[in-house]
Amino acid sequence: MEEQTPQPEPSLFERMRKRLTPEGVPADDRGRMRMVMESLILHIHPSKVETTSMKWTYTWGLGGLSALLMTILGGTGIILINNYTPAAPQAYLDILEINSNVWFGELIRNLHHWSANLLIVVTVLHLIRVFVTGAYRPPRELNWLIGVAMLLLVLGANFTGYLLPWDQLAYWAITVGTSIISYVPLIGQWLTQLVLGGPEVGANTLLNFYSMHISFIPLAIFGLMSYHFWRVRKDGGLTIPKSSKQTEDSKPERVTTIPNLTNREMIFALSWTAALLLFSMLVPAPLEGIANPALSPNPAKAPWYFMGLQELLLHFHPLVGAIIIPSIAIAGIFLLPFFDLNLKSVGVYFRSQRGRALTVLAVGIALIATPIWILLDEYILNWTLWLPTWDTLLSNGLIPLAVIALPLILLDDRIHKFFQADTEERVLFIAAFLFTAFIVLTLIGIYFRGPGMNLYLPWNMPTVVH
Ligand code: HEM
Ligand code: HEM
Repeated sequence: MEEQTPQPEPSLFERMRKRLTPEGVPADDRGRMRMVMESLILHIHPSKVETTSMKWTYTWGLGGLSALLMTILGGTGIILINNYTPAAPQAYLDILEINSNVWFGELIRNLHHWSANLLIVVTVLHLIRVFVTGAYRPPRELNWLIGVAMLLLVLGANFTGYLLPWDQLAYWAITVGTSIISYVPLIGQWLTQLVLGGPEVGANTLLNFYSMHISFIPLAIFGLMSYHFWRVRKDGGLTIPKSSKQTEDSKPERVTTIPNLTNREMIFALSWTAALLLFSMLVPAPLEGIANPALSPNPAKAPWYFMGLQELLLHFHPLVGAIIIPSIAIAGIFLLPFFDLNLKSVGVYFRSQRGRALTVLAVGIALIATPIWILLDEYILNWTLWLPTWDTLLSNGLIPLAVIALPLILLDDRIHKFFQADTEERVLFIAAFLFTAFIVLTLIGIYFRGPGMNLYLPWNMPTVVH
């Protein structure tokens, strides 16, 4: 009898090309629909993924959650533009209308508001995850740079959106936030005029912000996002520690993306959407009285994500607090991948046991030192009084900056010598210190600053008049 040679199973791609079901028979309409979906998914994901990169606790799903929030923002944003006019004072009346007379209007607005705020937190956490696992090392440094650009755009989207409700909160937060632009050397006044469309926040600013908010910024983010995803694939998937990726004689364990990864992603996305919906049903987005340029609240605060910057301005000459320090910080974040030279520990959280200990140490020191420095600067240090003949850029800017930088440089030197820390562990230490200091500044700005921008304990805070 003639023996039949077993036919090899068609590969996923071959099946799709020939429109065959997994059993190898021609697909009906439903089967074809499913194939369209599968092929769509396979434009984003590879057909197989390594099991290690699927662990929740490696990425915490933070990149995926950023993408989900962006999608929700795009969807709710498109609904909101149908009921919104970017003109003062009509904009405010439209928000009242959205909140009271538009079907599900308040829910859509709340979803847009809370997703936008959560997006900042989640994108920053994603950046931290990528940083502490060293996932920005070659070949992924370009994706890091794209990520930083997206983070800046996300902040831009939040800032331009903040003005749109045209209430007191929006008007004064944007007035404080945009005042920083005037400190840019040489072109400050011109730039302020360009952004505001006039000498102060007004109807032209609202129109400028609206057009940036609904066109250039989201288009740029969605464009970069597509490239970001493509690069993750192109760079060989997620960064995985060498040891777990491959042992001497074994290949890394891999499973098919559909349904193993896609099921998890679906559960994750649906749970977050449900949680966001529930939150938006229960907690309304803030809305105060209509914008009144003649009535400034005391204190007038920038949006929460710029409060660290506003706090810096209370301690330094504006050129140092608003321009030099933020520029160094942004340049530093952009260049981080190029300071770190070690490829071996890539993919390992905090890179090593010593890296972990040094991070904890840096966070601890920053948590104690930052409030102490704020109190000292508020009540004891008075550089302009001590150096009355010096230019304030020096006495209240570069000198205090040098006084802060010096102990940090000494500390770094001690860590290098005492703990024999490598370059990447030192980068980790300094970044953890500076990042924690910035968070403390932000929290103090949000919760401990009251009338006159003086320090108060949150539970003794006088009521703010808007
Ligand atoms: C809207 C903002 C962003 C979105 C939607 C996004 C999305 C993603 C996704 C889905 C991944 C793969 C899985 C994961 O790590 O969760 C990823 C990986 C990555 N992201 Fe982002 N990201 C954003 C912002 C950023 C930022 C701010 C940075 C850093 C500055 C960054 C740097 C990276 C890098 C280097 C990878 C590769 C990580 C690895 O190999 O382990 N991304 N991103
Ligand atoms: C990165 C994405 C986006 C972010 C971070 C963002 C952020 C914001 C924020 C914080 C507000 C103020 C919400 C409030 O308190 O009322 C807002 C309002 C608004 N956004 Fe967006 N948005 C994004 C994308 C979009 C898109 C794509 C559109 C339209 C296509 C849009 C349209 C609007 C409109 C019409 C308002 C005014 C209505 C309102 O204030 O509730 N947004 N946005």
